Parts: sequence; C-alpha cells; structure tokens
Amino acid sequence: MPVQWAGLSPELLLSVDRDSGEQLRAQLERQVRDAVRSGRLGAGERLPSSRELARELGLSRGLVQDCYAQLQAEGYLVTRVGSATRVAAGAHVPPAPALASPHRAAPRLIADFRHGVPDLGSFPLADWLWAIREAGRAMPTSDLDYGDPRGSQALREVVAGYLRRVRAAAADPERIVVCSGYAQGLGLTLRSLARAGVRVVAYEDPGGPATASAAAEAAGLTAVPVPVDEDGVDVRALDASGARAVIVTPAHQWPTGVVLAPARRLALIEWATRRDAYVIEDDYDAEFRYDREPVGALQGLAADRVVSIGTVSKSLAPALRIGWLLCPPALTAPVTEAKRLTDRGSPTLDQLALAKLIESGRYDRHLRRMRTVYAVRRTALVDALATHAPDIRLTGLAAGFHAVLHLATTADERSVVAAARERSVGLYGMSACRSGHATAPPQLVLGFGDVGERAIAEGVAAVGDLLTPDARPPGRS
Ligand SMILES: Cc1ncc(COP(=O)(O)O)c(C=O)c1O
Repeated sequence: MPVQWAGLSPELLLSVDRDSGEQLRAQLERQVRDAVRSGRLGAGERLPSSRELARELGLSRGLVQDCYAQLQAEGYLVTRVGSATRVAAGAHVPPAPALASPHRAAPRLIADFRHGVPDLGSFPLADWLWAIREAGRAMPTSDLDYGDPRGSQALREVVAGYLRRVRAAAADPERIVVCSGYAQGLGLTLRSLARAGVRVVAYEDPGGPATASAAAEAAGLTAVPVPVDEDGVDVRALDASGARAVIVTPAHQWPTGVVLAPARRLALIEWATRRDAYVIEDDYDAEFRYDREPVGALQGLAADRVVSIGTVSKSLAPALRIGWLLCPPALTAPVTEAKRLTDRGSPTLDQLALAKLIESGRYDRHLRRMRTVYAVRRTALVDALATHAPDIRLTGLAAGFHAVLHLATTADERSVVAAARERSVGLYGMSACRSGHATAPPQLVLGFGDVGERAIAEGVAAVGDLLTPDARPPGRS
C-alpha cells in the first residue's frame, strides 16, 4: 500500500548540482525516474507539490512543473486535476526475488500448541493506552533527553517494589537495569561476565540450548550443558563442568516445569560462593502458578551472587520488549555500561507507562485475570487428553502455560510432530530443547497460552490417536 501523507507535503531526497554541467531539469527528471524505477517511490505514492519542491531546491516552479509533465508523458507519474502528482502503477521495475523471509506466513492450523507465547488477544490494550497517556501527561520535558542507561528512576522504583512484594527479591532500584526483555538482559550479563574473566557458562539441559549458545558465543564465552533431573539442575555436574556462571530457571524449569528443590537452591548458592561464580536466574513465567505454593526468586537468597532477569513478555506481550535485571553489586556498573554502549537505555515513554500500569494496580488485575484464562485452558488440555489419549502422562503443569507430554518410549517424536502437521495441528518436540541425547525419551512441549479452549479440544481430538502409547507413526506396521 502506498504511504499516505495526510495533508502534508511529503519529503523527498532529491538534490541538484549547479556545477555539474547537466541541465537542472534533466537532473531532476533523472532522479525522479530512477527513484520510481528502483521502487524507492512506490506506485500510488504522492510527490511533493511543484511549489514545495521548487522552494526546497531553489528552482523555478515552472521548471518542476515541466519535469513532472515530462515524466507523466513517459508514464512514470500521473496527475489528476485538483489532485496531487503520484507515481503511476506499474512504473516500478521489480528487483530479483528476495530470499525467503524467516517469518513466512504460517499455514492455518486447527490448533498451534507453540510455546513461549501468552494469550495475545488478552493484551490489556485499553489499560496500556491509558498508561501511555498518563505517562506522557505527567512526564517533565527533561525525560525526553538521554537518561540514565539503567532506565527511568520511576520504573526502577516500581519494579523494585513489585519484585520485593511478589517475588521476595532483594530488589534495590539502584541495582536494577531496565532492558529489552530477557534476551537483551542475558546478553548484557554474559558480556559483563566475560569482561570480568569468566570463560565458561553452563545452561540447563533440557533448556534453551540455541539461545544460551548463541548469547554465549556473542559474548565470547563457551556454553556447556548440565543435566536437569526431578529436583532441578544437577549442581554436582555443574561443579564438574568448570563453568563460572550458570543460566537457570528455578521457579519453573524451562521446559520440564520442575521446581528447583530447596536443597539444590542452597547447593547452587554454595557452589557460586565457593567458585566465585554467578547464577543467572531467568524468572520468566513466575506470575502464573495454579496448584502449588509460590516459589520466591533465588535472588532473594543471595543478592551478591544471583543476577535475576525478569520480562513482561509472558505477563503482557513479547512485543513490548521490556525486561529488567536485578544485578549483584559487583555487576551493576559493568551491566549498566554494557547497556549504555548497546542502546543508551530503553525507550523512556514505554518505561513510564509500565510504571503507571503497575502502580495503578492494573498490572496485578491483568495477571489475576490471566491466571483464570490459563487455568481454564490448562483444564481444557487435561480434559481433552483424558478423552482422546487417556493413558498419556502430562507433567510440568503446576505453573506457566506449557506442559510436557510423555509419549510412549517406542514413539518417534519427529514422526508424531510431522503426522500432526499433516492434520493441521502444531506440535513441538522436546528434542529442540535438548543438547543431543539420541536416547532421550520422546516428549512434546505443549504450549497452551495462545490457544483457545475450543481449538485445544479440536486439536487434541485430531491427534489423540498419534499420542496414545500404542500409536504407530503412519506408514509403519
Ligand atoms: C525460557 C525463556 N525465558 C525468557 C523468555 C522471554 O524472553 P524475552 O523477554 O526476550 O521475550 C522466553 C521467551 O520465550 C523463554 O522461553
């Protein structure tokens, strides 16, 4: 669709060189022609008025009118009486086909159990717009300047209060750095650790091997997996790994859903203290728990050894790109400097809006509402599986909005995922979360954050026979 410039005359990058020897009109014609042919000016796009362009380039209006008339005659431009001059349809010479985008439109599915996404349709847009307006109204002009790279003081104070209240964190606004979600928070932390001499960072297996390895590599670190069992990360294996930092998800392990057991929490902190190491706590979906006691942030137990990273990607929406780091004293300055070098700080207006959303109580209200939404979806998933794949085992459901489905040991994860795709259901295998292990049990990670109850029921009904323990992948006897 062409850009519409409301009633204003659009800007256009054109210049004339009075010393070049080429006629001014010829220069202008050539530049507009090239802009249309190359697609820099799209079909239907409006050109500046001849008066405006003449004034800007210091030319006579008649010269610009002659230029437009010539290009109209050549079929590049169209002008209707009483209306602006526009680029003609079909005048653009299309370039060679672009490489396929990684964000190709996904085929329509009955149900897509992809994980990591909250219910996007429940984003509290009216509250967010209210918060943006309130923030803009109260904002002093000085807030439009470059600010503290750690982020706005208002948001850091509100987040500190929230984390103390809800996560039992030892949160000091002076040691909070606002960032663009967990992804940036992890990158800033790993860069700071690399500068402090850390060489190896461990991550949970299963976990997010691709994210951890890519972030470690970008920071010049080596990433090593350490196993997770039913009590969380194996601290003995961690000790043997030679790592001086570890990325963990203690409250609800990603993706198994296990909670880091109390003895393991203490062992992890003991390891960090003894090894002069750091624990990077990914507090990614702590807001949503259903039938278990709340688990406080690990950071509350050892604020000098734990970097806790929070995000609104699950509680509000990934598109906001807002998160925060709770830094230990020794890492606050390096992380702040890394943030300053990266982008000089996160967008202030969005930070102020988030502060308004939280301090007004609207954020808590949204979380309460979403807990109910996810609890209903979780029940829908459990019920649908009980009906269509009754012998299946589901784990990791005490919090968050994904579950682990244990396939029969003889099942082939990839074949089940592929067969479900054939039936227009998106299923995702655990193997993407593992660092190898050809012999690992076949499992699926089922996200139910952004799938409605009806889609859950229809999706599970469509693939139930593929999930049951005696199911054989299609084509095998
Ligand atoms: C384990 C885990 N942590 C954190 C996040 C959030 O990342 P971000 O805040 O960059 O959106 C995700 C996103 O899917 C995730 O899977």
